[in-house]
Amino acid sequence: MSTPHIEAEPGAFAELVLLPGDPLRAEHIATNYLSDVVRVNTVRNMYGFTGTYKGQPVSVMGSGMGMPSLLIYTTELVQQYGVKRVVRVGTCGSVSNKLGVGDLFLANAAGTDSNVNRIRFQGYDLGACASFELLYRVYHHALKNAIPVQVGSVFSTDIFYTADASLLETLQRFNFLGIEMESAALYALAMQEGFEALTVLTASDHLLHDESVSAEVRKNAPERTVRLVLDSLLFD
Ligand code: HPA
Repeated sequence: MSTPHIEAEPGAFAELVLLPGDPLRAEHIATNYLSDVVRVNTVRNMYGFTGTYKGQPVSVMGSGMGMPSLLIYTTELVQQYGVKRVVRVGTCGSVSNKLGVGDLFLANAAGTDSNVNRIRFQGYDLGACASFELLYRVYHHALKNAIPVQVGSVFSTDIFYTADASLLETLQRFNFLGIEMESAALYALAMQEGFEALTVLTASDHLLHDESVSAEVRKNAPERTVRLVLDSLLFD
């Protein structure tokens, strides 16, 4: 069996999949944090890997950038490969003084300027939210281990180079913490398909201060995020 976008055999993915946007980040995570790694997808260079973390099976695959790309891969992972838990690990732009560059952010809810969730939900407004269980477990583990995390709303935009000059002010007024391009669609798909989803982000830049993450933080952020997610969901 293969799907239009994934060539893997049935059973090739673990029930828990980490989903960075960048397939090379997927490769980096698989190579550096997993053991017994097998590359299970190369179609369109959207690499997917399955291995083990401290003996437990885990997969990691790129989602690509933006909601349409993420929806293709996640739908196929869930419907064809029996994936049960999807954790997006990525970066966002901070739109809040509460979220500094380099800070970790768990998105409990996602707004969007995209029409994808309205198309899915017959024109109604969907309260796109994270899996409470995943959010609770990651948050609880972070607190217990004194890992600072922020929890709040993320805005998923279809347009990175937006012409909407007032968007930032609106997001601030509604107390959003960050902006990225995937989570609202992931959460809506999870609600419809009945799988568990969570987004764990590192702020890579600050839209209020015109500041970007240092090379040091950029290098260490994946390590911190991957260990937080895997230790909390597999061992806590
Ligand atoms: N906009 C959208 N997505 C992003 C940004 C941003 O400013 N920063 C990181 N991902």
